[in-house]
Amino acid sequence: MLSDAGVLNAWHELKMKRKAIEALAAHAYHPKDIAAAIASGSFRTEGMVIAPCSMKTLAAVAHAHADDLVSRAADVVLKERRRLVLMPRETPLNLAHLRNMVAVTEMGGIIFPPVPAFYAAPKSLDDLVAHSVARVLDLFGVHTAKLKRWQGLKGTPADRD
Ligand SMILES: Cc1cc2nc3c(=O)[nH]c(=O)nc-3n(C[C@H](O)[C@H](O)[C@H](O)COP(=O)(O)O)c2cc1C
Repeated sequence: MLSDAGVLNAWHELKMKRKAIEALAAHAYHPKDIAAAIASGSFRTEGMVIAPCSMKTLAAVAHAHADDLVSRAADVVLKERRRLVLMPRETPLNLAHLRNMVAVTEMGGIIFPPVPAFYAAPKSLDDLVAHSVARVLDLFGVHTAKLKRWQGLKGTPADRD
């Protein structure tokens, strides 16, 4: 599901149109299609990731204000106690943003800002994105061997003193 603002964003950052992005998906839904299968808890899913998640959509999810299919599907995921992951990338944050993140966390959702994992020594933007995606997939029990996992620092504390 790509919101209208998401389409703007994808065009600005990737020069990709809605159709090109939807073609990458097994299933694509329009955010205005409030009667889509994922609007009902009876339709089985593992959960949902909102990436990136705007502060507007965060607010909608935090307050169960389901005025489009993105916020309705997230609402369904929360009420069915399934996995919901939001990837906000706004910074800095105002108090409303922080309170909405707390509210989503209290309902069982996971706030997962795509913060760069510098410890993985990324060489490119693609490395940064791939790391965040792999860490989110971990939350759904989908594990990839491509993820550079932390194995502990080599040496002893004395080596670094
Ligand atoms: C190019 C672009 C980048 C944006 N980046 C962000 C962002 O990182 N975080 C955010 O909260 N809003 C961002 N916005 C603003 C949201 O897109 C805007 O609040 C929109 O109404 C969100 O709607 P949606 O959640 O339905 O997609 C951005 C807008 C544009 C056009």
